[in-house]
Amino acid sequence: MRHQFVEINVNSIKMNVLKEGTGPPLLFVHGFPLDHKMWQAQTEYFKKDFTVLAPDLRGFGHSEVTYGTVTMEQHAEDLNTLLNQLNFAEPIIFCGLSMGGYIAWEFWKKFPERLRAFILCDTRPGSDSEEGINNRLKMVDLVLKHGSKSIASSMVPNLISESSQRDQPEIAKSLIETIESTDREGIAASQRGMAERKDYTHMMAEIQVPTLVIVGSEDQLTPPDVMKSIYAQIPFATYLEIPNAGHMAPMEAPCAVNQGIEDFLNSC
Ligand code: MLT
Repeated sequence: MRHQFVEINVNSIKMNVLKEGTGPPLLFVHGFPLDHKMWQAQTEYFKKDFTVLAPDLRGFGHSEVTYGTVTMEQHAEDLNTLLNQLNFAEPIIFCGLSMGGYIAWEFWKKFPERLRAFILCDTRPGSDSEEGINNRLKMVDLVLKHGSKSIASSMVPNLISESSQRDQPEIAKSLIETIESTDREGIAASQRGMAERKDYTHMMAEIQVPTLVIVGSEDQLTPPDVMKSIYAQIPFATYLEIPNAGHMAPMEAPCAVNQGIEDFLNSC
């Protein structure tokens, strides 16, 4: 089936957005350095009851690239403008994975009235250590010198569990294809933006919307302990751990993740 995409002018760039279904708005915000395709199993499933929106963030997929640094604030501003341009006045359900979660914190800070619920997958509230920042800046150098292909294959073992690598090779293939086709300047700009991001830990207790916290049990980048700390601090949170999945739980275990999201949405 053909997917429906719209191209929207957002804060001086053209943003490519998958928009399908009818009903309350459910926004899917991808991780780094990926695009809307990582949410395919979710957008296909939830378009029966929701207007699903899955943008390619600035610098990714088919959206326009800007050079330099793209901060999490900028991504949050882009999403707010996107919702304005699409005339969504009612509060949205915001589902973000990893970098999509970092953007969720900024979105909460700036536009709390826009939110009906959060679904936070495989992310963290804290900022980076000095070592973490240095590693990001090394990746920026590498990708600008040698291109997106130079980082793609080596990222995959951190993104999906061993069993997904063994039993679902199509996931690794699709992740590599997406990363290799992403513009090197887009990757560098958001990587610099993540290196600058703030520590949002203190803000968790202020989040007043129903929140579902999802993590793959084998996530090495944002492990269950980190996600349990988010769950413990957000007042109206539910915790869901997905067995045998890694950082990309929504791709690796789509049925379990969709069921968890559906149960959560029915309860809030
Ligand atoms: C992601 O999946 O978005 C990344 O792991 C985020 C990060 O690099 O911190």
